Formats: sequence, structure tokens, C-alpha cells
Amino acid sequence: MNAHPTQSTLPEDDQLFRLLRQVEKTPDAPQRATAEALNISLGRLNAQLRAATEAGLIAVKARDSADRRQRVSYALTDRGAEAKARLIKTFLARKFSEYAALHAELTGSVSDLVPLKYRSSLMQSNLAPIPELFVSYDSAQKLKVEAAELTSWDLSPRQICDLELLMNGGFNPLKGFLSEEDYNGVVENMRLADGTLWPMPITLDVSEKFAESLELGQDIALRDQEGVILGTMTVTDRWTPDKSNEAEKVFGADDQAHPAVNYLHNTAGKVYLGGPVTGIQQPVHYDFRARRDTPNELRAYFRKLGWRRVVAFQTRNPLHRAHQELTFRAAKEAQANLLIHPVVGMTKPGDVDHFTRVRCYEAVLDKYPGSTTSMSLLPLAMRMAGPREAVWHGLIRKNYGCTHFIVGRDHAGPGANSQGEDFYGPYDAQELFKQHEAEMGIEMVPFKHMVFVQERAQYEPSDEILDKDDVTILNISGTELRRRLAEGLEIPEWFSFPEVVAELRKTRPPRSQQGFTVFFTGFSGSGKSTIANALMVKLMEMGGRPVTLLDGDIVRKNLSSELGFSKEHRDLNIRRIGYVASEITKNGGIAICAPIAPYAATRRAVREDVEQFGAFLEIHVATSIEECERRDRKGLYKLAREGKIKEFTGISDPYDVPENPELRVETEGTDVDNCAHQVILKLESMGLIAAH
Ligand code: PPS
Repeated sequence: MNAHPTQSTLPEDDQLFRLLRQVEKTPDAPQRATAEALNISLGRLNAQLRAATEAGLIAVKARDSADRRQRVSYALTDRGAEAKARLIKTFLARKFSEYAALHAELTGSVSDLVPLKYRSSLMQSNLAPIPELFVSYDSAQKLKVEAAELTSWDLSPRQICDLELLMNGGFNPLKGFLSEEDYNGVVENMRLADGTLWPMPITLDVSEKFAESLELGQDIALRDQEGVILGTMTVTDRWTPDKSNEAEKVFGADDQAHPAVNYLHNTAGKVYLGGPVTGIQQPVHYDFRARRDTPNELRAYFRKLGWRRVVAFQTRNPLHRAHQELTFRAAKEAQANLLIHPVVGMTKPGDVDHFTRVRCYEAVLDKYPGSTTSMSLLPLAMRMAGPREAVWHGLIRKNYGCTHFIVGRDHAGPGANSQGEDFYGPYDAQELFKQHEAEMGIEMVPFKHMVFVQERAQYEPSDEILDKDDVTILNISGTELRRRLAEGLEIPEWFSFPEVVAELRKTRPPRSQQGFTVFFTGFSGSGKSTIANALMVKLMEMGGRPVTLLDGDIVRKNLSSELGFSKEHRDLNIRRIGYVASEITKNGGIAICAPIAPYAATRRAVREDVEQFGAFLEIHVATSIEECERRDRKGLYKLAREGKIKEFTGISDPYDVPENPELRVETEGTDVDNCAHQVILKLESMGLIAAH
């Protein structure tokens, strides 16, 4: 076995260092003694000496030893001396970095005991600790007490996600929420004011009222939704952004079919605050704690495992066989270990919830070759910004210690715009990433669409299949998968793993067993309540799921008794109805709502609340205002005409006619029973009630 003819590859760094040191120390020592000192066999020593000589690190010297048995002696060449010095430096750098990392882990701050030149330069830069915004434990305790006196801002769920990544270094080099100058640079050309590449505006949006109550230079406390202080911010900037411009530049269109544009206009506050953040504590997570890592924790983990090259896979969907194959190939291509790095902060409305997904990921993790792959959860709030998002994701993964990043087809795509066309081209994200790759310091592993080739019983990237005409290509789209789950249909083994399908079926029972919301909208007196009542009775007769009626008048008596009819109050009323309906839907019940709900944006917000948990049917009761006024059952139209009731919908207040409701019912000339029956038919066609 040891008859290898040439073994002249240089030994590993540590061994090489020991060899060079020994040669320098005792150039004339007999080889046997050198082998003993190095604790290796004579054969091995010879091979190493030969390799080092070939590499020009040592030279054979003329014999000047008194020991006649020693035929040759060695000396370090200049190159050898340089190599030895370099190895010492690398070794020291590694040790200092390990020390610094340990220090950072224990204290949450970067050590200044480590000489500057060793801080990060020589250690593989993806593994050295990165700066966080947290203060030390003792300072945090003090700061927390002081911060209790400060004006507080209660963070939205998205802001909590942003703050977590700001504080833990995930958004490095950001030191806080963007200043106005940085924001302008990011929006216009993806760069901070100092020229650093950063594609996504990370801003603290607040209400005008809150913004006006502040002085510039003031510190504010940033609290989570339970009131826990997570950090403080010195407000250096306050401005009213041009949101349409932000939408155009960052998301490619000012079109509210884009979830982030919708958020920008309808959820985000009107004013942005900017300034540096001081971190006190991480947001508390009670779920999957062992699976959550900060950038420095992941870097320490990679160091511990000796993972020098790590390819990250970003996902907001359950993993099926295609993803497993894609990630496995990517790892092989990049000769790297694999990090499955799913987003568990906020994803696209309607996505599978992260609890289910993480259980699915855990099942898939077992399918990778042992110890090549790991999984960590990322508390990011996605924006679905396609190309810009891909660059952002890459920078974040670099902060998390990864060297490579997979960008597949339609990365972070938001789907279709209001014209029914995709916001971004399927490979736009790869292109933008490529343009900035060198500067980013993380390499892209681009992937084309993976499809299953039946004849070869394996997944292949669609662009690599040369015999497309001779083979059968199988593919199940996301929409098709949702349909099969919703209708309880078969999901083939070639598509997914049985464990994953079982998990998905648990969370997504067939539609006929899920909760849903029927949301009637229309003028006062249009017949909403009457049809809603008839529908409720019909559904109760069928049985199977509890039914709750949230009629406009009933809600205003109970949930919203203090509210009037201003836009603000109406919105509040509808959001309350939406909240209750979403809870009912989540728990498998049927919610029937029948308010006027005059504003399209608010109806859309309710739809989003509900669709996380089940179907939402908007039903426009399209009775004309003339007919409602003619009927005037409650005598309110008369009073409204006389000006005795102000802000009356259809008379002195607006009503946005639904553009794409699931159903529009005309009540003029159709009886109530028939209208309710139309709804039942619609529910049947959507699979929400079993056909009978
Ligand atoms: S909203 O806009 O959705 O919050 O309104 P909603 O809660 O559905 O209103 C319920 C009923 O309130 C009566 N009402 C008015 N409607 C519209 N505008 C004004 N200013 C107003 N004042 C009182 C009206 O009877 C609504 O009745 P129905 O017939 O239930 O829609």
C-alpha cells in the first residue's frame, strides 16, 4: 500500500510549519532523529522533504556533518523562511480570531485585546466575528432602566424583524435605521451615502403624530408588542418620503398588487425616522430556539465544524425533492457545505406558516448526506423585491458567514402585477446579483428551473436536458400543489417526501374541512344582512363547521359601539371585523361578515388577514344606490338627504365598487333565497363545501 511512486504534495500547513522549523533548528540532524522529533515515519519524512525541496522551501546542503552515516543535510531557503513566517502569522491570526470570537460570544462585544492587524484580516473573513449593535450585558441592564424614561415607539412586526437583524449584525454595515441621505442613495442607486452597496431601505416608519412629538437628537426606546425594550435609537433624521418614488425605484412599479408596495402605502406610517441604534436585547422567540442563530453564532459554528466554504439556500416554501436536488447539486458545484436558511420572519401573505415549514425542513434534513448540511432560521421580513431582494439576501448571508448563495428562478418574486404580468423576469435576480457579485464578497450559485425526467427518474436543471423531445418531463407548480392539497388529491412520491406531504396535509386539510370567510359588501339597505342570514341558515343546515354572523349593525352594537362613520372609524370597524373573521377562519369555522366596508384598501387588508388561514370570498351586493334609497327600510336615506345624517355612504360619502369580487349578486328582481343559493354554488365550486 505504501508503494506510491510520488508523494510530493506539500503537507498540511501545521505539518509544514513543524518541518520547516525542525530543518531550521537542526539542519544536520540525522533523518531518523528529525522523523522522531516530528513524530512521523522515515518514509513520510522523506516524502515531505522531497515535496518541500521541489517547492523551493528547503535546499540540500553539502555534507558537513561529522556523522558519516548522514549523507545529506538540509537548509531553509529564503522562500522557506518566508513560508515559515507566513505560517506563523496565519497561526497567530487564527488563534487571535478564535480568542476574539470567544470573547464576542461571552461578552457580546469585540475584544480590543487582539492586536488590530489580527482582528479579521488574516482569518478567513467569512468566519471572523462581525460587529453587533448590542452593548455589554451590564450596560444593557443599566440602559434598560434608563430607557424606561424615554419616549417609546411600539414596533410593528416588520420593524421587530428589521431591528433584530440590525442589532445582531445581519444587516451589517448598517448601524441603525437609515438616515435620509442613506435612504435617498439606497432608493436611487442601491448605495448608502458613503457608496457602500445596500439595496433595501431599512426605515423606521411612524405616524405623523409620533414624529411631530420628537426633537431631533432625542433618544427613543424601541419596544416590542409586549412592551419589552429591545433597543434605543437616537433620532437624527425625520422626513416624509415620496412613497410612490420608493415603490417605482425599489420594487419596480407603484402597483399595489406588489405586497411591499401595498404595505408601503397602506400599512407603513407616513413619516420615516433615522438614526443609530443601541441594542439592549434580542427579540424573544419561544419557538425553535435551538434552530435560531445570530450571524456570529453561525460563524462560530462554521469555525467549529471547519466549514470554510458554505453555500446558503434561502427559502420561504416547504422543501420538496426538486429543492433537495438543487441544493445538493449547488453544494457539490461550489464544493461547499450547505446551509438551509429559511425565512421565518415575514414572507409573502398566504405562504405556508413557518411552524409547518420548519417541521417539513427538519424531515428533509435527514435526506442529505450526514454532516454536510445544516439548517438555521432567519428572522427576516422579506419584501419580495426580486432582483434587489436577491442582492440583499446575498449580503445578509455573507454576514451570516456564508461564501456562496443560491439564486434560482424568480428569486423572491411577488407574482403577477395588476395587469396579470410578472413584476420581474425569471432571471432578473441572477443578472443583478452577477453585476454586483465581486463587490459583495459572496459568490452566486445560479440555478435554472429543476424538473423531473421520468425516464431517468431524477431531477435535472431544465436547461441541461439535451434530449427534451425524447423524454417525459414532469413538474408540479406551486399553484397545482396547493390545488391538490386543497382538494385532498394525490401528491406523487417523485414530487415530495411522504413526511413533508403528511405535515402539509395536517396544516392544510382539504378545503371542505377548512375555515373560510364570506365578506358581503354593499350600500346600506342593499340586502347584505338578509342574504347573510339566509346563507347562515343554509350552512347551519348542512352542518360540519360552526358559523358566525358578523353583521354590520350587530358589530356596531358590540365590538365597535364607540365608533362613528369617519374614514378612520370605518376602517377601524372593518379591521376589527377582519380580525375576528380571521380568528374564526383559523380555527376552522365559517365567518359571514356583512358591513358596508366602503374602502377597497381596507377590504384588501381584511382579505390578507383572513387568507393566511383560509379562503376569503368578497361578495358585492350590487344593489344600486337608487334602489336602496327607494327601499329605504330604516328611513336613513331620507335623513341623509335632509343632511340630518352626515357622511352617509352613497349620498355624502364614497363607496369603492369592488373590482374583482369572487361574486357579484344583483338583488333587483332576484329573491333572497336565490341570492343565498348563488353563494352556496360559489362555495361549492371553490371546494369549500362538498357538492351534494
Ligand atoms: S362601515 O362603513 O362598514 O363601517 O359601516 P357599517 O358598520 O356596515 O354600517 C352599519 C349601518 O350603520 C348605519 N349607518 C350608516 N351607514 C352609512 N353611513 C352612515 N353615515 C351611517 N350612519 C348609520 C346604516 O344603517 C348601516 O346599515 P346597513 O344596512 O347594515 O349597511
